[in-house]
Amino acid sequence: MPISRRNFLLTSAIVSVAAYGKATSGRLGLEKDPFIEDLIVRMTLEEKAGQLHMENVLTPRMIQPNFQKINPFTPNFTPEVAEGLLNDQLARIRAGAIGFMTSPEDIDSTILAQKTAVEETRLKIPLLFGADIIHGHQTVFPVPIAEAASFEPELARQTARACALEATSNLGLDMTYAPMVDIARDQRWGRVVEGAGEDVLLGARFAAARVSGFQGESRDDLHSLLACVKHFAAYGAAESGLDYAGTAISERVLAEVYLPPFSAAFDAGAIVTMAAFNTIDGEPSTGSHHLLTEILRGQLGFSGAVLSDFQSELELIKHGFAADEKDAARLALSAGCDIGMASGIFPRYVPELVRAGQLDESVLDQAVRRILLVKREAGLFDDPFRRISEQRARSPAPSSHRKLAREAATKSVVMLKNDDNLLPLPSSGKRIALIGPFAADQENLDGPWSPFVPERPSVPLVDGIRGIMQERANLNVVKGCDIEASIAGGIDEAVNAAREADVVILALGESTDMSGESASRTEITVPPAQQDLAEAVSATGKPVVVVLRNGRALALDGAVRDAQAILVGWFLGTETGPALADLIFGKVSPSGRLPMTFPLASGQQPFYYARESSGRPPQGDSTTKFTSHFLDIPQVPLYAFGHGLGYAEVEYGPTQCNASNLNLAGSLDVSATITNQSRRWSAEEVVQLYIHDRVASLVQPVRKMVDFKKIKLAPGKSETVTFTLTAANLSFLKRDLQPTVEPGEFDVWIAPSAEKGTPTTFNLIGA
Ligand code: BGC
Repeated sequence: MPISRRNFLLTSAIVSVAAYGKATSGRLGLEKDPFIEDLIVRMTLEEKAGQLHMENVLTPRMIQPNFQKINPFTPNFTPEVAEGLLNDQLARIRAGAIGFMTSPEDIDSTILAQKTAVEETRLKIPLLFGADIIHGHQTVFPVPIAEAASFEPELARQTARACALEATSNLGLDMTYAPMVDIARDQRWGRVVEGAGEDVLLGARFAAARVSGFQGESRDDLHSLLACVKHFAAYGAAESGLDYAGTAISERVLAEVYLPPFSAAFDAGAIVTMAAFNTIDGEPSTGSHHLLTEILRGQLGFSGAVLSDFQSELELIKHGFAADEKDAARLALSAGCDIGMASGIFPRYVPELVRAGQLDESVLDQAVRRILLVKREAGLFDDPFRRISEQRARSPAPSSHRKLAREAATKSVVMLKNDDNLLPLPSSGKRIALIGPFAADQENLDGPWSPFVPERPSVPLVDGIRGIMQERANLNVVKGCDIEASIAGGIDEAVNAAREADVVILALGESTDMSGESASRTEITVPPAQQDLAEAVSATGKPVVVVLRNGRALALDGAVRDAQAILVGWFLGTETGPALADLIFGKVSPSGRLPMTFPLASGQQPFYYARESSGRPPQGDSTTKFTSHFLDIPQVPLYAFGHGLGYAEVEYGPTQCNASNLNLAGSLDVSATITNQSRRWSAEEVVQLYIHDRVASLVQPVRKMVDFKKIKLAPGKSETVTFTLTAANLSFLKRDLQPTVEPGEFDVWIAPSAEKGTPTTFNLIGA
C-alpha cells in the first residue's frame, strides 16, 4: 500500500516536531518579501555575487607585533603584511563583495567587519557570521558520537543550546556548521566522531534535537544560532570509509538511509545546509543539480540556502567535472549551491557569466533571495548587532554549563563488559595502577573539533581519579608508552606498577588526530605500542579495567578485548576526568549504549546491524563454509549496536503484542516487562524496538530499530514498556522511491541491543 513520502520521512525518522522547537519548526517560506525583492532590484551584479561569498574574517589584532594567530593564512606574516590583508578585506566588505564571514577569532573582528558592512556599503546589507561550533565553545561537551551514546536527544538539545549561548555571546556568531547528520556505517571513516552513528532513527532524532538546541525556541532569541546541517549528502557513505572518496549507493539507499536525518533537521527548523565534498553516482554533490535542486528542494521541500563545504565548488575542477574556475562557479551556482565557502570564485566569475549570457540572472537572483531570507530569519535586518556585544563577549560561560558537561560526559560512556563486577572500584583500600598514554594526557581530551580555546583546560583522567580516591598514595600513575610509540623502559615500569597494585586501570585508545576530518584508518585498532603495553600488563594477572579514548568503534583485540572491564570513554571534553571517575568509583552507574557496532576485526567494515538479509546468512559464531562470513572469523560483532551495561542487572521479559494482526489503518501495542534485578543500583535502560519484514518485494534489513525509550528503574522495580506500532513504522521505499507497506508477517523485538532478544510475530493485514 502506498503511503505519502512526507509520512515516510516523518515516520522513518519518527521525529516529533512538536517536541522540538515549536517556534522554529517549519520550513522557511520563500514567499516573496517586498523588502528583499526591493533590495534585489537595487543590487548590481557585483553586489549580488558578493552576497554569495564567504571568507575568513580577519582580526584587527593581527597588526599588533605580538599577534599569535590561530589560523595561519600566510607564511610571511608581518604586521605590514597583516595590515595590507586587513585593509584589503575591509575594502571588499565596503564594496559589497562579501556576504558571509567565517571563524572570527574574537569579538573585535566581528564588530569591525559588521560596522563596515552596515555603515560603509551602498546597500547596508549585514554580514552573517558562521563558525564550526560542533560540541562546545567556552565549555567543551562530549563529541557528538559520544552524546549519541546517551540515546537521549534531549541531552544533545541542551548541550547544543549551551554551545549556542556561548558562541553567540562570545563571538557574536549567527550560524554554526552543525549538526553533522551523516549516517556513518564504516568505522574507518574518521568523521564518524562528528555524527550520531550508524542508525537512521537515532540519527534523525539527534539531528532534530541539535537543530532545536542551536536555534532555540525562537529565532528572535538573541542566542539563537542558525544550524547549518551537513554534509548534503551521503558523505558518510564514502567508499571504503576513505574521506573525500566517492559514494556508490543507489538513490533508494540515499533516500532511505542518508536523507531522513536531513529531513528531520529541516522539520526542526534548519534553513541552511552544507553541500558535501563527495560525489554521488558520478556527480560531485556541490555541482549536482539533481541533488541540490531536484532532491533537496524538490523532494525534501527545503527552501533555505546551501553553503559549499570549504571550497568544494572549486574542487569541481579536481573532480574533472568543471573545466576551470569560471565553469566551476557556473556549475555550482546552477546546481543550487548558493554560498561559496572561501574559494572566492562566485564574486570573481558570476558577474561576467551573467553578462556573457552563460548564466541566467534569475539563477543568481534566486540564490541571493535565499541568502537574504536567511539573513532576515537570523534577525540581521532588524538589528545587525543583535548578537554582537563586547560586554557579553567578556562574560564567562554560565556555571550550569560545567554541570551539564559533567552530566553529558557521564551519560556518554558505554560500559562494554564488567566481569565479576570488577567495577565500580572502592574509593579507598585498594592500590590502583593507572597506566597508559591517556592516564594523565592533557592534549587529547576534547576531540578533533575544538578550534577555539576553551575557557578552562579540560580535566584529565588522573585528576578525576585523584579527586575521588581517599588515599592518594594508593595511586601510581605510569605512562608506559606514547600513543603510537614505545618509551624506553616504559613497559617495565608499567609492569612493576601493575604488580604492586590490586587493580590496573589501562587508559588506551586514539589521539585527537586519529579521527575527524581526513583521518580515515585502515586498521581501527588500538595502536600496536599500546597493545604491547596491554599484553605485558595483563600478563601480571592483575584485574584490568580498560578505559578507551576513541572517536569511532574500535576492533579490540588480545588483552584489551579480554580485560575484565571496558569503558568506552570517547572524547568527553571539559569534564573528562571527573565524569570517568564518577563511573569508575560508582558515584554514577554507566548508562550509555553503542550508537554503532564494535566489530571483531577491522576487515569487517562496513559492519552495521541493519544489514540486508543474505541468501546464505551467517550462522552465529560458526564459520561453516558457504555462509556469509570472512574465512578467519564468524560474522558477528564483538559488541552490537545498542549494547551497554550498567551496574544493575536488568532483565527483559518476553516481547508481547496485544493482537496477532495489525490492520493497515490501525495500531498494535508491543510491550515487554523490564526488571531491575539489583537491590542497590538504580538502572537507566535504553529499551529498543526492532522489526523485521519477513517477506517483501525488496530485501529488508535483518533488523531495523523503529523506536526506543530510555527509562529509569529503581532497585528491584519493574516496568512494562509499551510501544505503539502503526503501518507507517513498517514502510520502506520501493525502487521508484515511493514509500510502501506490504502486508505479511513481521518479527518484532523489544531488546537491549540489536543482537539480543527473542522476537514475536504479528501479521500486517489489509487490502
Ligand atoms: C569541513 C566542514 C567544516 C568546514 C569549515 C570543512 O573542511 O568538511 O565540516 O564545517 O571545513 O571549517
